[in-house]
Amino acid sequence: MLPAYFDNITVRYLEPKDYEPYAALETDEEAKLYVGGPIKNRTREQIVQFMNYQPTTSLLALADPLLDNYVGRCGFLDQDGTSETEIHIVLAREARKRGIAKTVVPLLAELARSLGKIPMAIVDPENVRSRSLMNALGWKEIGIIDKENYQKGHIRYEPDSI
Ligand SMILES: CC(C)(COP(=O)(O)OP(=O)(O)OC[C@H]1O[C@@H](n2cnc3c(N)ncnc32)[C@H](O)[C@@H]1OP(=O)(O)O)[C@@H](O)C(=O)NCCC(=O)NCCS
Repeated sequence: MLPAYFDNITVRYLEPKDYEPYAALETDEEAKLYVGGPIKNRTREQIVQFMNYQPTTSLLALADPLLDNYVGRCGFLDQDGTSETEIHIVLAREARKRGIAKTVVPLLAELARSLGKIPMAIVDPENVRSRSLMNALGWKEIGIIDKENYQKGHIRYEPDSI
C-alpha cells in the first residue's frame, strides 16, 4: 500500500533527506499548537541528531507529488494494551487547504485496518480545522479523553464504519 501516489500528495516512508524539513515543521509553533509529541521541547538540531531511519507506519512522510519535497508527516500510533491506533497528520502551512488531509486520512484508516488495527483520532476541541476535517470525512465524535495527560478533555473520533 506504500508508497501511495495521489494527484495532490505522495505518502511514503520517511527518508534521511526529510530530516531537516521534518525538524523545521516539528518546531513550528503554529503547526504544533494543537499537536503533542515527545519531541515538542527539542531544538531542530537535536531532532535531526536523534533521527534514526527505520521505515515505520508511526511516522510517514507526506511529499509533493512532483518534486518529492517533504511537506508534512502522518501515521498512526498504537495505544498501549489495545488494538486501537491513533491517526496523526501535520502539514506545513503552504501545503494546507488543498485536500491533502482529505486524501490521506482515509488511506491511513485503511492501512491501519489492513494491519488489524482499529483507527481512531484524538482532537483538541479548540482545533477547529481538525474538527471540520473529521466532520467532512464523516468521522463520529464518540467520547472525551479522561486520562491525566495533555489530551485530557480532547475529543475522540472514529470513522463511521470501523
Ligand atoms: C488539520 C489539517 C491536517 C487539515 O489539512 P488540510 O490538507 O489543509 O485539509 P483539507 O484541505 O484536506 O481539508 C479537509 C477539510 O478540513 C476542513 N478544513 C481544512 N482547513 C480548514 C480551515 N483553515 N478552516 C476550517 N476548516 C478547514 C474543511 O472541512 C475541509 O473540507 P472542505 O474542503 O470540504 O471544506 C492542517 O490544517 C494541519 O496540518 N494543521 C496543523 C496540525 C494539526 O492541527 N493537525 C491535526 C491534529 S489532530
